[in-house]
Amino acid sequence: MSEGERLGYSTRGPGKRIVIDYSSPNVAKPMHVGHLRATVIGQAIRNIAETQGYEVIGLNHLGDWGVQFGKLAWAYKEWGDQYDFKNKPFQSLFEIYVRFHEEAEKSPELEAKGSLVFKNLEDGDTAVAEIWKMFVDISLVEYQRLWDLLGVKHDLVRGESFYNSRLKAVEEMLEKRGLLVESQGASVVNLGDDMPPCLIRKSDGASLYATRDLASAIYRKEELKADLNLYVVGVDQSLHFKQVFEVLEMSGYEWAKDCHHIAFGMYRFKEGMKMSTRKGQVVFLEDVLNQAIERTAVVVAEKNPGLTDAERASIARDVGVGAVAFNDLLFDRVKNVEFDWDRILSFEGDSGPYVQYMYVRCASLIRKYGKEPKMMPERTLSAPEERELVRVLMAYDDVLEMAFDGFKPNVLAQYLLEVCAVFSRFYHNNRILGEEASVEESRMALVRATKEILHQGLRHLSIRSPEFM
Ligand code: ARG
Repeated sequence: MSEGERLGYSTRGPGKRIVIDYSSPNVAKPMHVGHLRATVIGQAIRNIAETQGYEVIGLNHLGDWGVQFGKLAWAYKEWGDQYDFKNKPFQSLFEIYVRFHEEAEKSPELEAKGSLVFKNLEDGDTAVAEIWKMFVDISLVEYQRLWDLLGVKHDLVRGESFYNSRLKAVEEMLEKRGLLVESQGASVVNLGDDMPPCLIRKSDGASLYATRDLASAIYRKEELKADLNLYVVGVDQSLHFKQVFEVLEMSGYEWAKDCHHIAFGMYRFKEGMKMSTRKGQVVFLEDVLNQAIERTAVVVAEKNPGLTDAERASIARDVGVGAVAFNDLLFDRVKNVEFDWDRILSFEGDSGPYVQYMYVRCASLIRKYGKEPKMMPERTLSAPEERELVRVLMAYDDVLEMAFDGFKPNVLAQYLLEVCAVFSRFYHNNRILGEEASVEESRMALVRATKEILHQGLRHLSIRSPEFM
C-alpha cells in the first residue's frame, strides 16, 4: 500500500474474523432495487471492516432452495420449450416463474404439483436436480454482471441448498435440548409470549428458511470460525432474525450474541410503486442502473463536449452507478430512502457526482502543479479555511471507526460531503497555484490529502473516482 492508501487503516481487530452475508438474491428472480441496499450497504461495511483490521469473509447466502424451485421445475418441464432458454436464459426463467404464479391463481392445483416436484428434489431426484442446477447457474451469470457493475465481491457462495445435509443435525440438536415440539403435524420451537414460534419443519416434511438459517449460523461459527456474524438484510426480515438468534441462544450457543441483523429500510418511489416479483411489477435494479447511466451520459456530454465516446461511456458508468450507490449509503440505513432522480444525479447537491467532482478538481490541480505534492503541509497554516480543512481531514480515522462500530456507512458518506464543503471554501477563498513557494507547497499538500481521502472514502463505498468528468 502507498502512503495515501494506508490512510485510515487501524489494527483494532487483529486476528478477528467477520462473516458478512450481503446481496444474497433469490434464484430465478431479477435483483430488484431493494437488493441494491443489501448489496451496497453490505459491501461498504465489509470494506470498512477491513480498514479496522478485521479479516472478512463475504458470504452470498443465495436463495436457491424452497418450494418455488419445485414449481419452477414443473413449469419448465411443462412450458420450457416455448421460451428461448438458449439465447435469453434468465429472461425465460423469470417469465416462466411469473407465468406459473399467474396460472396458479386460476388453477390452484398447480401449487400441489409444484410442491410434489420440490419433494422429489429434496428426496434426491437427479433429473429435477439437474434442472434446478441449471436455474442456479443461469441466475449467477446474470447477477455477476450487476455485481461487477457495482464493484461487489463475495468470497464464498453458500446458497440455502448448501445446508440440506446439515438440517438433520440441527433438528437433532434441538430435540436433544428438549426445544422441539409438535404443533399440528409440524415441528416448532416455542419462543414465549413475545414472538411466534419458530417453524423448523412443515407437516409435509419440508424444511424452512429459518431451519436453513440455523444451520448456516452454526456453520459460520463452527467451520468458518466467525467472531462476528453479520446479516445485511431488509428490516422486513427483523422478526425472522430475532427468532433465529433466539433459538440459537436457547440452544446454549453463547456466540448467539455475536450475530447481528444489519437491517435497512425500503425504497419509497414517488409514484408509490410497490415491489413484488410475484406478478412482475417490480423496479429492477438493472433498469435503475441503466437509467442512471443514460441520464448521466447526457449531462456529461453537455459539460464536457470534448470527450471521446469511450471516455464518455466510462465516466457515465462510474458517475451514474456511483450516484445511485451514494444515495443509498447517505442516510441512516434503517430509514426508508426516497428515490428522487434529480437529487441523486445532481452535480451540486449532496450527491455522489458532487463528491466525484471535487475529486476531479483536486486531480486537475495536481496535474497543473506538475509534481507530486507532499502528504502533509510543513508551514504553520494562516488561513482559517486551511485550518478547518486540516481539522476535517484529521477526523478521517475516527470516522471510519465510528462507521464500523455502528455498521453505518452513512457516517462515511456524510463525512465525504463535509470534506467537499470545507474543501470548496478553502478553494474559493484562497489562491493555491501561483502563491509564494512555501504557501503553494503546503496548500497543495492539503489538496493531495483531500484527494486521497475522497478517493479512498469513495472506494470503501465501492464508488469509483474518475480522473476527469
Ligand atoms: N434471499 C433473501 C432475500 O432476497 C435474503 C437472504 C438473507 N440472508 C439470510 N441468511 N437469510 O430476501
